[in-house]
Amino acid sequence: MTILTTERLILRPWREEDLEPFAAMSTDPKVMEHFPSTLSRNESDAAATTIGGEIETHGFGFWALEVPGVAPFIGFTGIRTVTFEAPFTPAVEIGWRLATPHWGKGYATEAARAALDHGFGALGLAEIVAFTIPANTPSQAVMRRLGMTRNEAEDFAHPKVPPGHPMSRHVLYRLRAEDWGKQV
Ligand SMILES: CC(C)(COP(=O)(O)OP(=O)(O)OC[C@H]1O[C@@H](n2cnc3c(N)ncnc32)[C@H](O)[C@@H]1OP(=O)(O)O)[C@@H](O)C(=O)NCCC(=O)NCCS
Repeated sequence: MTILTTERLILRPWREEDLEPFAAMSTDPKVMEHFPSTLSRNESDAAATTIGGEIETHGFGFWALEVPGVAPFIGFTGIRTVTFEAPFTPAVEIGWRLATPHWGKGYATEAARAALDHGFGALGLAEIVAFTIPANTPSQAVMRRLGMTRNEAEDFAHPKVPPGHPMSRHVLYRLRAEDWGKQV
């Protein structure tokens, strides 16, 4: 199973011990501000099992993020196949979710760079996308730091969010392999 490392981080498969700190993140209204709701312990465990299982099945996914010497689990970052149909699918997305004490340190961007290197390198992907709601400016800032670009014409209604819900509309960012290649 693929493990990625950066200067400060390890992107690794999930462990049983990650469930508790992940559940704490999942009930934190700050972490979940841009999602329709926080998650119960059961929902959080189920999400972790799904995410962790994808890494076992496909060899890549939303890896658990460890900061050696700092914390064994601070959240996740990685790439996974988009699990719904939209005008831009099939596609592989990049995503991140960190516990609040670990915001503002560059961890999400550093981990995402390793995930993009792996996606465009070892996996040979032609393009990786990212999406969020317009209000999630910290997440869009990560996307832009990575060189991803948004075309407003590609905003979409997330099919897993009820139509008309204030968090239905999403923005889409894209990054093509040749443009990532230009940066490294
Ligand atoms: C989205 C999220 C991961 C962004 O976190 P973040 O801390 O802003 O992003 P990074 O980890 O890349 O850190 C970048 C910040 O660290 C700062 N930083 C400090 N030390 C740094 C270092 N050594 N290297 C790089 N940046 C550093 C940067 O200047 C930047 O700060 P700024 O935003 O004030 O300019 C975080 O807000 C989060 O988990 N949100 C909840 C979940 C979520 O919404 N996920 C996305 C759903 S689509």
